[in-house]
Amino acid sequence: MKIRNGYSRLQIGIHWATVLLIGAQFLSGDWMEEVFRAVSQGQAYDAPRAQIHVVAGLAVLGLVVLRLLARFLLGVPGAPASSSPRMELIGDWTHKAVLGLLVLVPLSGLAAWGGGVALAGGVHGLLTNLLFGLVFLHAAAAIYHQYVVRDNLIHRMIRPG
Ligand code: HEM
Ligand code: HEM
Repeated sequence: MKIRNGYSRLQIGIHWATVLLIGAQFLSGDWMEEVFRAVSQGQAYDAPRAQIHVVAGLAVLGLVVLRLLARFLLGVPGAPASSSPRMELIGDWTHKAVLGLLVLVPLSGLAAWGGGVALAGGVHGLLTNLLFGLVFLHAAAAIYHQYVVRDNLIHRMIRPG
């Protein structure tokens, strides 16, 4: 993969759009669980609620495909100079795991919703919790860089480079 000086405008736009969409998914997850239960029992359900969750989730999937293409074609910046080799490895693998989950979470949701597979619903819930956990660590690392390491890493995700 190419190593560049910063993230492109496209990569930065996708990053923050994904943050908003994941926020929407976090808030609409409980609704979707209720809706899925109603559908499984053949009861009426609140369609707009389901639509919000499905559309936002599919948008995450579309954006991650674009993001992976951009990563492959444009490259990403190397670890900040302040990182030790161990921190560099942790950061790199956290980003890869988050990217992998951004693909698997919507796909498992799709299998549950489109295919009516109850097991896929369970897997979706599990993977979602893993994603939220890693994203929490990721955001904590960004805050750590900002206020403890003070290397202004957040600027990489604000100003295109
Ligand atoms: C990154 C994208 C997504 C995130 C972060 C997400 C997040 C969530 C969360 C937090 C829940 C509640 C699960 C629980 O607490 O056990 C949930 C449930 C659900 N989501 Fe998603 N979701 C995403 C994409 C999708 C997509 C694209 C679909 C369908 C096309 C979908 C369909 C479902 C269904 C059917 C449930 C109910 C599962 C069950 O109750 O077993 N999700 N989702
Ligand atoms: C749903 C929430 C989030 C997801 C899914 C996410 C995902 C990612 C991923 C996959 C990368 C690697 C670069 C890439 O492939 O584009 C990244 C980089 C980055 N993220 Fe996030 N992120 C989230 C939230 C946040 C938040 C809340 C902050 C700030 C508090 C943040 C700050 C950063 C920074 C500074 C980088 C660049 C790190 C570097 O270049 O080493 N992210 N993010």
